[in-house]
Amino acid sequence: MAHLDQIDPKKLPHHVAIIMDGNGRWAKKQGLFRSKGHESGTKAVRDVIEATAEIGIPFLTLYAFSTENWNRPKLEVQTLMRLLVSSLKKELPTLHKNNIKLNAIGALEDLPKKAQIELRDVIEDTKNNDRLTLTLALSYGAREEITKTIKEISSKVKNNIISIENIDESIINEHLYTLNLPDVDLLIRTSGEQRISNFLLWQIAYAELYFTEVLWPDFRKTDLYEAILNFQNRERRFGKTSEQLN
Ligand code: IPE
Ligand code: IPE
Ligand code: MG
Repeated sequence: MAHLDQIDPKKLPHHVAIIMDGNGRWAKKQGLFRSKGHESGTKAVRDVIEATAEIGIPFLTLYAFSTENWNRPKLEVQTLMRLLVSSLKKELPTLHKNNIKLNAIGALEDLPKKAQIELRDVIEDTKNNDRLTLTLALSYGAREEITKTIKEISSKVKNNIISIENIDESIINEHLYTLNLPDVDLLIRTSGEQRISNFLLWQIAYAELYFTEVLWPDFRKTDLYEAILNFQNRERRFGKTSEQLN
């Protein structure tokens, strides 16, 4: 089992993003309703947030609900939205205690009003915390994000606020939901699926990908340590040769 003291504090990923998958299969395996899987998944969320802060990683982004997830049965969508509101209410003191700042990305205006208000309140309440920025991806889809970005930039070009010649990667970055976040260094997906499912397409351009069979509700601190240790054993070359790096 991986331990915290095995992790090299000088080689930490700056930004870890997680596709929290497998709640439904976890529930089905024990003859429970899918909603029980989502409920149990909140324990894993708490564990991972705490571990991330303890390790000293400054940015954590969790994929909680995709634009495609709106196509799930109405009852499941309702359960997920209710769980979001109750978790936000419940976790606020813990966020404060651990000096964590909450952030959210996605088409937030599509969330139920209650969830929007709760989210806005917790974001406001934690805005001065600075140990860890926890970003929840809610009603998030990378294609929707990129489309929105293109529309905003085009409209600025049309109104002579920016010129076509000046469009570069940093201008694009400034129009994404993730404008205040660094690139993702490590992307983790649980439950054995090896796909991106419309998550952070632009931001993971050079992320290290880590897939584990563990179903999200079973994911614990030690599983995160294992992912980080795996990350620390990789050579990130960013297009260069190995010799250039040494
Ligand atoms: C992830 O678990 C949670 C969300 C996508 C909201 P799933 O609900 O996708 O679980 P599986 O993939 O069906 O097991
Ligand atoms: C991705 O999981 C979205 C979240 C974890 C929130 P899904 O379970 O929705 O992805 P697919 O449908 O298997 O690709
Ligand atoms: Mg899934």
